[in-house]
Amino acid sequence: MGSVKRIGVLTGGGDSPGINAALRAIVRRAKPLGLDVVGFRDGWRGAVEDDLVPLGLPDVGGILHVGGTILGTSRTNPFQKDPATGAWTPTAKVDRILDTLKRRQVDALIPIGGDDTLGVAHRLASHGVRAVGIPQTIDNDIGGTDYAIGFHSALAVVTDALDRLHTTAHAHHRVLIVEVMGRDAGWIAILGGLAGGADVILSPEQPFSVGEVREALQRRLDAGRRFSIIVVAEGARPVELGSVPLAAEGRVDAFGHPQLGGIGYWLASELEKAGLPLTPRVTVLSYLQRGGVATPTDRLIATRFGVAAVEFAAAGKYDVMVALHGPRVVAVPLGEALAGCPKPVGPEYLDLARNLGVR
Ligand code: F6P
Repeated sequence: MGSVKRIGVLTGGGDSPGINAALRAIVRRAKPLGLDVVGFRDGWRGAVEDDLVPLGLPDVGGILHVGGTILGTSRTNPFQKDPATGAWTPTAKVDRILDTLKRRQVDALIPIGGDDTLGVAHRLASHGVRAVGIPQTIDNDIGGTDYAIGFHSALAVVTDALDRLHTTAHAHHRVLIVEVMGRDAGWIAILGGLAGGADVILSPEQPFSVGEVREALQRRLDAGRRFSIIVVAEGARPVELGSVPLAAEGRVDAFGHPQLGGIGYWLASELEKAGLPLTPRVTVLSYLQRGGVATPTDRLIATRFGVAAVEFAAAGKYDVMVALHGPRVVAVPLGEALAGCPKPVGPEYLDLARNLGVR
């Protein structure tokens, strides 16, 4: 295995604030180590289609706080699922990636993304691709790390929204339902709901029934509380729907994920049918949670991840993911991190909610 001279970076999947901070850190750390950095445009698409740009210090100036990704993103998947076995099998795109890396003399990759993007990197390891992954998703559902880039910024958006919605819910004596992201895990819903003082939090971790939500709201009414805030994750599972999330029919991405959404409006209508005496209104935060500037915490996590990823690559440590373990940034085997996906919210927060009387 030769030493590294050129690193390729790419950003895939749903974007989140903090990615650019990681790109900046990668370039700034690579320079003194004598490493060249190139960026593939739009995730794995850029590697498949040989679409790349050189990344030097001037290219990453002024982007520390800027949301999104200067490289663009996509959900391109160079593997396809075997319908019989469920295993991911390589398509012709894998050969094109290998060809691009060889032709462009890219010795190591730093893919930044969620379990889909990092899953591709792990599968490419058996084709000889050397990669150090960086976890990035507002959903924070990647195993092996305390936090992924983007989660704290989404949390700040949700908390701010709940603060604003509280005042109008109180003034109008309303039930306000706030739908947030979180396909398979309730990190945004539960931690956002707790930080924003929600009365009911519905997340993928614990299926719920309309009846129990109705009862929780009635208890508040009986206690003289004339408004309530419900936070519901897009991936929440109502028992009335067979404990599966509400998905748009026929809309599935390249990784096989159905497009979720609509649970907020569904719940509002079911609560009305159940005779709720207050008017439920719905706010869907949607892509607002992924946009805007990165919080200081995300900038710091991303900067530490970027620096560590370059150092692991320079040291020849591959098929790993940088991860936050308490105060330390470590390398965890990619396979191990992926096996822990989706990482559910732990009992420390579920118990906290329960002990505060939050459903
Ligand atoms: O970034 C993760 C995520 O926000 C999920 O919570 C959500 O289901 C998904 O991305 C939607 O993203 P898109 O509409 O871009 O596919």
